[in-house]
Amino acid sequence: MNSLINKQVVLGVTGGIAAYKSAELVRHLQKIGARVRVIMTPAAQEFITPLTLQALSGHPVHTELLDPQAEAAMGHIELARWADLILIAPASANFIARLCHGEGDDLLTTVCLASHCQIAVAPAMNQAMWKQTGTQENIAQLQARGVKIIGPAQGYQACGDSGPGRMEEPDILAKQAATLFDSGLLAGKKVVITAGPTREALDPVRYISNHSSGKMGYALATAAMEAGAETILISGPVNLSLPDRVEVVSVVSAQDMLAAALEAVEGADVFIAAAAVADYRPQHNADKKIKKTADDITIALTKNPDIVATIAALTNRPFTVGFAAETHNLENYARKKLLDKNLDLIIANDVSDKSIGFNSDDNQVTLVSPKQVESLPLMSKVSLAKCLIEYISTHLIA
Ligand code: C5P
Repeated sequence: MNSLINKQVVLGVTGGIAAYKSAELVRHLQKIGARVRVIMTPAAQEFITPLTLQALSGHPVHTELLDPQAEAAMGHIELARWADLILIAPASANFIARLCHGEGDDLLTTVCLASHCQIAVAPAMNQAMWKQTGTQENIAQLQARGVKIIGPAQGYQACGDSGPGRMEEPDILAKQAATLFDSGLLAGKKVVITAGPTREALDPVRYISNHSSGKMGYALATAAMEAGAETILISGPVNLSLPDRVEVVSVVSAQDMLAAALEAVEGADVFIAAAAVADYRPQHNADKKIKKTADDITIALTKNPDIVATIAALTNRPFTVGFAAETHNLENYARKKLLDKNLDLIIANDVSDKSIGFNSDDNQVTLVSPKQVESLPLMSKVSLAKCLIEYISTHLIA
């Protein structure tokens, strides 16, 4: 499957005749689900206008590093965090050299430097420039650092030469970009994830719930699926589109979620509790709508089962991961939760910071395991999910 659903792609366009194909590339990336924002270098604007790419991407094209207006809208650091993938197509020999040397003298190189996401480069240049030792050494260094090189293709070139150096065709580039999210790290494994809020009924029309969006759990499910795992997502009521190639079990209450989790966890290798489960439910769920008669009413609450702790207590339990949302003393409370619930890993985040957590698209977490504490940088929930799945897969083997 070639899908970029929910993925945020920064498309970097550098100076080269193939820049005209970037317009088509925007379309192909969008067609398979990506949200696209474009950065153009000054040289790229000699070949194609920012207006064309703005019209196609639906967003202003970013061109300047030191532009107060652009920085006020979406600055280079936000753009770097926003990206799940930075794809540079076409990438000139000059841009490749500057990326290789860690330069940050324009917007595109700076965003590459500031981002933690996957970078992919589609070289496009004259065949002699491609074959130069300098270019080849730069490419080898970038590959060694994890940058993906897509192409170049062979064939007739605009300058009249023939050989390697043509930018890969836009449809192929979009498909290759999608495969970059497939890691195979959890191939053959079964992963169960809970996500979203639960609703605890008071009567047929009312319930107690919370503001969980489910974004983190859904991103984790997609990342687990992309890592090759058979993935079951047990979801409370959310407003998100169903992830591709993931079995979704929809539930409403904490009790439903526990029952679904106990069933799904059979033979599972990993259980990740990303749901914001209501701690309490009304003691009585009235058959009929509660009438507005008394001035004051009291609702008695009873404690819900702790789903993640129940799974962690099973014999032959999976690698069990929980979340801890804290406003202070993050590491200490997370460690206590790790021990109390007998988990293998706690993903802790500071919910006193409004830019992360619950409804936000970004998150910043600290990973607390029995042996290790590691803080990850602020990034999009999609990129974070990918990092977390990588972390879990290495710890499963260890
Ligand atoms: O105890 P607390 O709610 O802070 O713990 C959060 C972690 O425990 C999350 O991973 C959440 O999904 C899980 N949890 C659960 N069942 C509950 C309460 C929390 O699985 N009833």
